Amino acid sequence: MTKSDITRVAVVGTGVIGASWTAYFLAQGLDVVATDPAQGAEDHLRADVARHWRSPEAMGLAPGASLDKLSFTPDLEAAVRNAQFIQENGPERLDIKADLFRRLDAAAPSDVVVASSSSGLLISQVQTACRHPERIVLGHPFNPPHLIPLVEVVGGAGTAPEAIATALEFYAAIGKRPIHLRKEVAGHVANRLQAALWREAFHLIDLGVATVSDIDTAIAHGPGLRWALLGPFLNLHLSGGRGGIDHVLNHLGPAIESWWRDLGDPSLTPELRHKVSDGVREMLAGRSAEGMETQRDALLRDLLRAKSGSPDLP
Ligand SMILES: NC(=O)c1ccc[n+]([C@@H]2O[C@H](COP(=O)([O-])OP(=O)(O)OC[C@H]3O[C@@H](n4cnc5c(N)ncnc54)[C@H](O)[C@@H]3O)[C@@H](O)[C@H]2O)c1
Repeated sequence: MTKSDITRVAVVGTGVIGASWTAYFLAQGLDVVATDPAQGAEDHLRADVARHWRSPEAMGLAPGASLDKLSFTPDLEAAVRNAQFIQENGPERLDIKADLFRRLDAAAPSDVVVASSSSGLLISQVQTACRHPERIVLGHPFNPPHLIPLVEVVGGAGTAPEAIATALEFYAAIGKRPIHLRKEVAGHVANRLQAALWREAFHLIDLGVATVSDIDTAIAHGPGLRWALLGPFLNLHLSGGRGGIDHVLNHLGPAIESWWRDLGDPSLTPELRHKVSDGVREMLAGRSAEGMETQRDALLRDLLRAKSGSPDLP
């Protein structure tokens, strides 16, 4: 099935990520059947989707996009029976995921791709109980999926290349920026990159080199501004001036290697946890997380609009 055929999506699990995916799929003009066994899940979902809707509304809804295209059932099997693509967002536990996939696989038409949003589990382990493991893929979004374009796609040992191709094509066609991971690895790519940065950030706090607020300033008012525009390698290339990447690797490579050897390997001791949570509370200085989230999303919309008008950026 190609993307142009896909008009009906099932969203399985409607917590933080499922609700955000639901808003995105609806904004793309798709029909969504959502399911979640939790008490009050439908009310929560409709409230979350209504809250998220202001982003796609501001950025432009696809023709036919409507909140009326959302339906909900607590019955998992009924939700996926007529789906043409399934996005799974259940709890991040291998035993729960594997059982969920066994049920989804038994209930969904055998040619339909089932994508998991899992932040770190391996699809090879998730798909073990499926009769049709060939259509099970990872489709890992970045929070919030209704705004952030990245989706990481990778197959497990039993996944067919066609399922990966369908997922990549579907995500790209609805405006996402999917990347295809050639090998499974715990935490995928983007979370491992974040984890590498967090590791050193926690280490620097542990050493007393900088405060929590200094570290957030160092990223949010420093390289973070460039990273939103170009990735680490193209930024490195630009740091090399006329000589580009080759010059910078010759010039700064030995220094970078020496920093790598000096990087930390902290543990989340109770003391370090306290230092970080106290530092975060100090930085918040009474600001609400909700207010910051609203402002962050408004700036993200502006940034995404600006980026889409800059065709020279890859
Ligand atoms: N939160 C993030 O930043 C983030 C980002 C990317 C990916 N993810 C991944 O998305 C998935 C969901 O994470 P979340 O943060 O939305 O969690 P969440 O706890 O907010 O939502 C999980 C939902 O799954 C539901 N659920 C439980 N059992 C179920 C079942 N049998 N069938 C269907 N639904 C069931 C729960 O009721 C809940 O609503 C996880 O795999 C997670 O790793 C999370």
